[in-house]
Amino acid sequence: MSQPNNPADPPAESGPEVRAEGGLVAELEQMTAAERAEHEAEVAEVVAPDREIAVGMGETLLELDAVTVQFGGLVALDSVSFQIRRGEILGLIGPNGAGKTTCFNAMTGVYRPSSGNVLLEGAPLRKASRHAITQLGIARTFQNIRLFGEMTALENVVVGTDARHKTSVIGALLRLPRHHHEERDAVDRAMALLEFVGIADRAADKAKNLPYGYQRRLEIARALATEPKLLCLDEPAAGFNPQEKEELMGLIRKIRDDGYTVLLIEHDMKLVMGVTDRIVVLEFGKKIADGLPAEIRENPAVIAAYLGVPDDDVA
Ligand SMILES: Nc1ncnc2c1ncn2[C@@H]1O[C@H](COP(=O)(O)OP(=O)(O)OP(=O)(O)O)[C@@H](O)[C@H]1O
Ligand SMILES: [Mg+2]
Repeated sequence: MSQPNNPADPPAESGPEVRAEGGLVAELEQMTAAERAEHEAEVAEVVAPDREIAVGMGETLLELDAVTVQFGGLVALDSVSFQIRRGEILGLIGPNGAGKTTCFNAMTGVYRPSSGNVLLEGAPLRKASRHAITQLGIARTFQNIRLFGEMTALENVVVGTDARHKTSVIGALLRLPRHHHEERDAVDRAMALLEFVGIADRAADKAKNLPYGYQRRLEIARALATEPKLLCLDEPAAGFNPQEKEELMGLIRKIRDDGYTVLLIEHDMKLVMGVTDRIVVLEFGKKIADGLPAEIRENPAVIAAYLGVPDDDVA
């Protein structure tokens, strides 16, 4: 689905409609702070079931090992290596065309590296299909929003939960009890996810009718529905005003605090510096830096890349 003409659509709070799920919204408004906190904890639990946060915190979750991606003569990624540790928010930055989205595509089976490996929990993805990679635990959002415009927000998220279903197609056709359970669980969980990302009040609206900011959040909810080990966000705050960006960063922190690992592509430096634990910098398909936000901010090669100074002048 393409981006609406006006990315600065007002956030839905200012809209008149509190629709099918208005009951929930009204209920939330009447809660005391303590009740609200308890409710949010319950939602967070539904959003991240069976997550063993403490167990693997800090160990390598995903590794790019000398990954090269070529398009004809163009080397979009040139032997790029970095690691994502469990429980962190890793920023992936670099000027336009640096290869950031190509990294996501190489990690999610859209493109095959011409050489090198992507390893999830130590196991190379090799030729795993996109669907298989989703099931293994990598989910992403897209730089240009891709939603099912004619489906409701809730349905878009239920589609995401489908990736985790255990019943076969035959089970679904025969309407086996297990399928019924999974269907109900999927709807409950999808609703919890919409609430988690802050758009439950528009659950019954078609995706194409949602304000732009809501569509971005819906994409995140749909990706979370697959219960990923790693959530990859490709410029989720593109087109947002400063306040919307700040709110989105709050959501990304909340996602991490709920036990997910996040890889974030974002151009806004202030925002990246504020939310990430570590940062990897690409330029012309090569990794030029990797470190803590404070180190990256001071790194001459990074400063040069952003100011457009030729490398020779920096060295
Ligand atoms: N499918 C493709 N076919 C040919 N070239 C491609 C393809 N996808 C990407 N490229 C090229 O690879 C390079 C890296 O592109 P990529 O989209 O990964 O950059 P990016 O860092 O995400 O940039 P942006 O910040 O503009 O989104 C660019 O030169 C781009 O034109
Ligand atoms: Mg990109």
